[in-house]
Amino acid sequence: MPEPITVQATVFRGDNGNRVAIEPLQLAPPLAGEVRIRVRAAGVCGSDRHVLEGEWQVPLPAVMGHEAAGVVDAVGAGVQDLAVGDHVIVAWNQACQRCAECMSGKPWACMRVKSNDSLLPDGTTRWSAEGERAYPYLAVGALSEAIVVPEFAAIKIDQRVPFDVASLIGCSVGTAFGAVVNNARVLAGESAVVVGAGGVGMSVIAALQLAGAHPIIAVDVNEEKLEQARAAGATDALLGGDNVVERVAALTGGGADVAFEAIGRSQTMAQLPLFVRPGGRAIYVGLPREGDLVQLDGLELAYGGKTIIGSNYGALVPQRDFPRIAGAYLSGALKIDSLITHRIGLDGVNGAFDRMRRGEGTRSVILFDE
Ligand code: APR
Ligand code: ZN
Repeated sequence: MPEPITVQATVFRGDNGNRVAIEPLQLAPPLAGEVRIRVRAAGVCGSDRHVLEGEWQVPLPAVMGHEAAGVVDAVGAGVQDLAVGDHVIVAWNQACQRCAECMSGKPWACMRVKSNDSLLPDGTTRWSAEGERAYPYLAVGALSEAIVVPEFAAIKIDQRVPFDVASLIGCSVGTAFGAVVNNARVLAGESAVVVGAGGVGMSVIAALQLAGAHPIIAVDVNEEKLEQARAAGATDALLGGDNVVERVAALTGGGADVAFEAIGRSQTMAQLPLFVRPGGRAIYVGLPREGDLVQLDGLELAYGGKTIIGSNYGALVPQRDFPRIAGAYLSGALKIDSLITHRIGLDGVNGAFDRMRRGEGTRSVILFDE
């Protein structure tokens, strides 16, 4: 039986503005059906920033991070599909695996998930700070040297996928791939618009390239992001603001087939259906702050026969989709490396959130020693 270990972890207590601290926490060994993972890479994702800014409430103290890849280093009783030494990507939606939604391939729609409340399926956590329970964000707490998750939330992948790339598959790249492939079901040659060219939007652009979409039009308010979007394969990059709807219509012969909102702002969510042609699909990937309302033109939507699709975790089935995404990366068809603009140590995590606030770079990934 493995012993509890002390782990350097990113802790948010909400008592120092939006700052996190790196602190030693106690991590209990994995119980039955759980695995402990030595995190090798963890992405700094926009959802954590929502929490630090107080836009989403979570139990505190919180162990931040939810986008991780690493190596299994201990397994609890009864674990069947994973062994010490396996390389895994962590899924942050810890669905029950038994309900009607889970059984019909929609784990993202599971109503029994406890991971949204920072709890493992048994309603507890393995983390403590000086005897007091700590709460891993989305039941992952990825920005830490090690974590404990249920066996089914750690998906084994090909060891040829580097850890930094693998970590992104667990959230931003996985979500984007799922939004394009599972939610929008983009066909080769369809025209697409991506509003917001941050970490998630750039991942959507990469997934659209994989799907063979054309043209791929990026919209952002930051010139630097537009430059990066062009370099990453967007065929057109437009500065958001006046006339952007008309310019998209001109580039696509009357509106795109699909449009993605990858920011999480009610104004851009309201505008999104205007980018698509009659019969087109508008996909909400970005997540707004709690309570935000989106005002839509009902006639335009109904008469235009348009579909709005909410994308939760890209409708991913992690066991099916993570290995597929890894395969698309290994084939060379899905570009992920260029999304990583900063590789840093755990002590750089506040700086990574600050870069995100300033709109600098695409993705920061925290790397951990072996
Ligand atoms: N119009 C167009 N682009 C905008 C606008 C706007 N009005 N406002 C902001 N942007 C751009 C920013 O310039 C930035 O490039 O949106 C992008 C947002 O990117 P990030 O801050 O890097 O956020 P990201 O990590 O991509 O997450 C986006 O997805 O998963 C969710 O919770 C996450 O809600 C967040 C969203
Ligand atoms: Zn995320």
